[in-house]
Amino acid sequence: MIRIQNLGKSFGELKVLEDISLEIEQGDIYGIIGQSGAGKSTLLRCINGLETYNEGSIFIEDKEVSSLNKKELRNVQKGMGMIFQNFNLLNRLDVYDNIALPLQFWGQKKDSEENRKKIMELLALVGLEDKVHSYPRQLSGGQKQRVAIARALVLDPKILLCDEATSALDPQITKGILALLSKINKEMNITIILVTHQMEVVKEICNKMIFIKDGRNVAMGRPEELFVSPNKEIQQFVGEHLDILPRTGINIKLFFNNENSEDHVITQLARTLGIDFSICQGKLDNFRGTILGSLVINIKESDKEKVTEYLDKINVLWEEL
Ligand SMILES: Nc1ncnc2c1ncn2[C@@H]1O[C@H](COP(=O)(O)OP(=O)(O)OP(=O)(O)O)[C@@H](O)[C@H]1O
Ligand SMILES: [Mg+2]
Repeated sequence: MIRIQNLGKSFGELKVLEDISLEIEQGDIYGIIGQSGAGKSTLLRCINGLETYNEGSIFIEDKEVSSLNKKELRNVQKGMGMIFQNFNLLNRLDVYDNIALPLQFWGQKKDSEENRKKIMELLALVGLEDKVHSYPRQLSGGQKQRVAIARALVLDPKILLCDEATSALDPQITKGILALLSKINKEMNITIILVTHQMEVVKEICNKMIFIKDGRNVAMGRPEELFVSPNKEIQQFVGEHLDILPRTGINIKLFFNNENSEDHVITQLARTLGIDFSICQGKLDNFRGTILGSLVINIKESDKEKVTEYLDKINVLWEEL
């Protein structure tokens, strides 16, 4: 659906994106994650044509964005809804009129039977039917974001772009918004691109992700792969420090999924092999409902062969750190 090849973007002397390539397929919830200033919003703005780029190409359904004329670009933009951290609602308009704005922009009557039905359906989707005539100042942050989501969907987009859509919300409200985005993705078959600096957001709903640092791709793939067995860049980002592990013996990281619960593995390991070891680090992550865990144990050098053979035998993934 979207293909980006060797994208480069500078603001004057400042190189903001360099050699970014990625593919987003229909139905993906694609996460773009990285620290502040990494270039995430710029990448998103290049995708929807709000920003031009200097190198490479962006294809949206096989149309190259930089080759489009104004009218063509407008039509591509019509197919992409957008939501932001600060909701961008107009305070002087009520919920209904905020949602109707894009329709009016495209010359449609907000009160036609068809549009009224559509807006009420969207309000039902986001769970705000009772707020149809409220004004933004009368809504909570989470409710405002729901209105913004309804507005982003009013032109029947194929793609929804979210720039830090949950960054201003508390964790509980964030969960609700993410569940709503997930539902929109599944039930309306809308592809979602989600920019965030919150790792939890990516884990919770993205099926693919790119991690950008200083405008470059430093990791790309499925969140469960990248976070369960992270490279140095991601370790730094999530604050996982290998330097606090013991310097003697051997540190082995074990990976767990739903099938091999870790308490069994650990007690079995000790019992079956009759060895002692220490547990140094452990965590559980929830990836779209699948719980994956990892545990670092420190074993004696002389036990390494026994332990790794045993882990292989019981099909537990491991790596030496
Ligand atoms: N219009 C602009 N003119 C000049 N520099 C810009 C412009 N827009 C962005 N930049 C610079 O590009 C870099 C990347 O900015 P961008 O907004 O894409 O980062 P980001 O990853 O979205 O950060 P954040 O998480 O803080 O939103 C920053 O150094 C920023 O100062
Ligand atoms: Mg940004």
